[in-house]
Amino acid sequence: MLDRRAFLLSGLAVYGASARELFAAGPALQSPRFPTSPFTLGVCSGDPADDSVVLWTRLALDPLNGGGMPAQPIEVQWQIATDDKLSRVVKSGKTIASPDWAHTVHVEVSGLQPHTWYWYQFRAGNELSPIGRTRTFPSARADVDRLRFAIASCQHFEAGLYTAYKHMAEEDLDLVMHLGDYIYESPGRDNLVRKHVGGELVTVDDYRNRYAQYRSDPALQAVHGLFPFLVVWDDHEVDNDYAGLYQEAGDPVEQFALRRAAAYKAYYEHMPLRRSSVPKGALLQLYRPFNYGRLASISMLDTRQFRTDQPCATILSAPCAGTIDPRATMLGPVQERWLMNRLDRSQAGWNLIGQQIPMAKLDRFAGPERRFSMDKWDGYAESRARLLRFLGDKKPSNPVTLAGDVHNNWVNDLRLNVDDPSTPIVATEFVGTSITSTGDGADKSPVMEAMISENECVRFANNQRGYVRFNLTPKELRADFRVVEYVSKPGSPIKTRASFVVEDGQAGAKEA
Ligand SMILES: [Fe+2]
Repeated sequence: MLDRRAFLLSGLAVYGASARELFAAGPALQSPRFPTSPFTLGVCSGDPADDSVVLWTRLALDPLNGGGMPAQPIEVQWQIATDDKLSRVVKSGKTIASPDWAHTVHVEVSGLQPHTWYWYQFRAGNELSPIGRTRTFPSARADVDRLRFAIASCQHFEAGLYTAYKHMAEEDLDLVMHLGDYIYESPGRDNLVRKHVGGELVTVDDYRNRYAQYRSDPALQAVHGLFPFLVVWDDHEVDNDYAGLYQEAGDPVEQFALRRAAAYKAYYEHMPLRRSSVPKGALLQLYRPFNYGRLASISMLDTRQFRTDQPCATILSAPCAGTIDPRATMLGPVQERWLMNRLDRSQAGWNLIGQQIPMAKLDRFAGPERRFSMDKWDGYAESRARLLRFLGDKKPSNPVTLAGDVHNNWVNDLRLNVDDPSTPIVATEFVGTSITSTGDGADKSPVMEAMISENECVRFANNQRGYVRFNLTPKELRADFRVVEYVSKPGSPIKTRASFVVEDGQAGAKEA
C-alpha cells in the first residue's frame, strides 16, 4: 500500500510546476494597462522569521470567474518600508505573477530587522495594491516580554458574516494563527446568510474561485492586511473528513489524489507560504517550525495529509479495535519524530503546538453510553498516548496545544493518561471556536452541558462564534475567549466571555 501511495503521489508531480519554474522570470508583460485594479483580493503576509517574511497578493480582475487575467506572466513590483507611508523603503524588487499559479505572488523578503513592524505594497502596470502591514519575529536568542496573538478557524462563508474578523482588526496583535477550514468545499446553497458561488469543489479552478470568494470579504482582507498569519489546513480545504488519500465517501484513491492535488495547489497559491511549501502534486510541506525569541517555540502541525483512515464503522462511535491500533497515525511517523525532536531540543519558555483537531478525550454522547469522534485524536488514541507520554517523560517547558475544528470554545487538561484522572496534567489545550461555522450560537448547547459534566478534563466550554486572543509572557499565558452575539446579520458587538490563565511551570488553565 505504501509503495502504491508513493507511486501515486510522485506521478502527480507533473501536475504542478516546480519551484524553479515558478520563480523563473518568463517573457512577462511589464506594463500592462488594466481597466480596473487587479488587486481585488487585497494583500497578506505570513511565516515570519527574524530576518524575513512572505508577502502575498494575487492579480484578479474577475476573481470569482477564474481571475479574468490574460494567459501571460505579468511583472509585479513590490516594496517594503519601516513606515506606513512607505517613505523609508528598505527593500524592493520585481517578481512574476504566472498564469500557472493563478497570477498569485509570493515574495520571500530577506535581510529584515528582527521584531520590527513593516509596511509593504505591490504595483502591477499602473495599479497599486493596498498597503499591508507585517512584523518579523524576534531573533531566536532574544529575551522577549510578550507575544500577542489570536487563533481563528472554520469560516464557512454561507454560515455567517465575518464580524469576528472586523473586531479582530481592532486588536493589538503581533500574529494570527489560522488553524484550518479556511474555506469549505460544499456547493452553493439557498436560504443561508451568504451563498457559495459554484458547485462542490473538485478542480483547481473550483478551489481558486472559492478562495477568491472568501478573500473578497473586506473584514478578512483587513485582518490579513494588518497582521502576519501562520496557516495550517483542516479537512474542508479539500473535502469533509478526508484522511490522507481516503475520501469520506470512498472515492478511489487515484481519483481523490487528483482532487487533493488540485486543492493543495490552490491552497498554496492563496496562502502566504514559503517556497518550501510549493506543492509537488498531492504533497505539500505544511508542518513547520517557528521560534519567537526565547519566549516561544511554535510548531504548526498537519493532521490531515499523513493520517491513516478514521477507524470504526461510524465517525461518532464507541472505541473499536482500530482506535488503539498502534499502526494508526495522526501525524505520520516522520512528522511525529520531527515534533518530538523539536520539543526535546526546545530552549523556549513556552512550547505552542498549532494544529487542527481537539486532543482531549471527549465523550460526545449524553448519558452512560460513550461515543467519541473518530475524526479527532480520540480516533487515534495510540498517537495521542505516544505524544502525551513523551511530554510526561521529557517535560518540555509549558506545552500548550491550540486547535479549532469543532466550532466551539474549550479549555481542557491533557493528562499523562487520558483515562486516569490521577495522572498529572502534562499539557494545556485551548480549542478556539469558529469565525462563522454553524452560525449564530448560544452560550451552551444541551450536548455541551452533558459533555462538561461527563468529561473530567473539561474546564470550560462555550458555543458562540469568535476567536481566542492570547497574551503570552514569560510568567503566564492568558487566553481571552472573544465571542460575538450573532453572525446572521451585521453589527454584532464582541465581548470577552471568559479568560483563562496558564502559569509558568504549571500545566492546566485556571479561570482568570
Ligand atoms: Fe469546520
